[in-house]
Amino acid sequence: MKLPFAESFKIKMVESIRRSTREEREQWLKEANYNLFSLKSDHVFIDLLTDSGTGAMSDKQWSAMMLGDESYAGARSYFNMKSALKNILGFDYFLPTHQGRAAENVLFSVLIKEGHVVPGNSHFDTTKGHIEFRKAKAIDCTIDEAKETELEHPFKGNLDLTKLEAVLSTYPKEQIPMIIVTVTCNTSGGQPVSMENMKAVRALADKYGIPVCYDSARFAENAYFIKTREDGYADKTIKEIVLEMYSYADMATMSSKKDAIVNMGGFIAMKDQELWNQASTFNIMYEGYVTYGGMSGRDMNALAQGLDEGTEFDYLETRIKQVEYLGSKLEEYGIPFQKPVGGHAIFVDARKILPHIPKEEFQAQTLGCELYLEAGIRGVEIGAILADRDPETRENRYPELELLRLALPRRTYTNNHMDVIAAALKNVYDRRDEIKNGYKIVEEAPIMRHFTVKLDRI
Ligand code: F0G
Repeated sequence: MKLPFAESFKIKMVESIRRSTREEREQWLKEANYNLFSLKSDHVFIDLLTDSGTGAMSDKQWSAMMLGDESYAGARSYFNMKSALKNILGFDYFLPTHQGRAAENVLFSVLIKEGHVVPGNSHFDTTKGHIEFRKAKAIDCTIDEAKETELEHPFKGNLDLTKLEAVLSTYPKEQIPMIIVTVTCNTSGGQPVSMENMKAVRALADKYGIPVCYDSARFAENAYFIKTREDGYADKTIKEIVLEMYSYADMATMSSKKDAIVNMGGFIAMKDQELWNQASTFNIMYEGYVTYGGMSGRDMNALAQGLDEGTEFDYLETRIKQVEYLGSKLEEYGIPFQKPVGGHAIFVDARKILPHIPKEEFQAQTLGCELYLEAGIRGVEIGAILADRDPETRENRYPELELLRLALPRRTYTNNHMDVIAAALKNVYDRRDEIKNGYKIVEEAPIMRHFTVKLDRI
């Protein structure tokens, strides 16, 4: 008999979680103004809000923490992180930052100015926020296939080279500070970018003289998909694939809370020393001295160890197979989601489930609230609330996809939890026609409103 798949870890420490009643959840959700970010985590049974900083560190990471060097300048932990970045990603220069958006803030302070345009594949919301805050424009060049959730395509994170070249040839070089390639592409469903696409982006970048920056939060998951889906990579190690990926980039920002499996941390990495010099000034102002940049020594140590573990095939296989397992359950129940499954999450197609709710009433948010009420499971809306208002017209932006993201923290839940998630979603799906109304906004922030928005039932 063929042996079934099992996780490549065993569990050494556990944290209790608690179920609640539907009445309790009704009350808590109301108190949270129907914004899932505003719930207390103690009021959540299975938390799929994000895979960011929510994973379980390994015994090796915890022991690396004990060896952290907390010297203000020149700490051993800094050099551990530096050699991990050199060995794994191939960058000579880097600056630690406290998380991914801080890396964006520092790097963009050097490179992005008013009137610039920044093409990329579905920029993440903080990335777009940092671009728009500087009165520059993020231009989405993701392939159209990414917008059809039922369409199987191995690399739905790819940039459409025609769209990209149109941007590069329309604006003068001085107005395009960088091309951003997000690996994997979170907003389009945790979808990977192929090596072939990365090479082609590099070629276009060279043709027009524009630098390439990888938004690297889930670069290792991207490498796993290259290994398992792209011709010519099956026999390469994840680490070999990662080095090749970054050979096509000039710089990178990273939220290390994802694929470096730490609770907090980030960095900017670059090949150019002059850029490092310029970014250092902003890093010192916003984050901290260049050898810690908002991170403690122990966290830099855990990050260095996490980068190494996160680029091991067995770890990644365990991780992605759990996402696939949840996907296969949803498939069995006929629930529509972005296919093939992404690296870190399932993106449920709320527009297909609740077509009778108008987009102005926020379909994905409505589905997210229903799932919470059903079983205390917290996902996150990737739809019109997240898409925010157009910075110029102030009109609501309605994206083509209304998705409910169920992000899986790394090494945290078991497949029994996946069964509960799938069953809860099936229950909501089965009573979808009884869900008559969505939500309206009663209060919102001028930018990145989804974190703090207050809603009410219609
Ligand atoms: N880039 C990508 C692709 C991300 O997914 C995130 C964060 C960031 C940048 C910003 O990094 O949170 O460390 O400041 N994504 C989280 C998520 C929040 O839930 O997808 P950060």
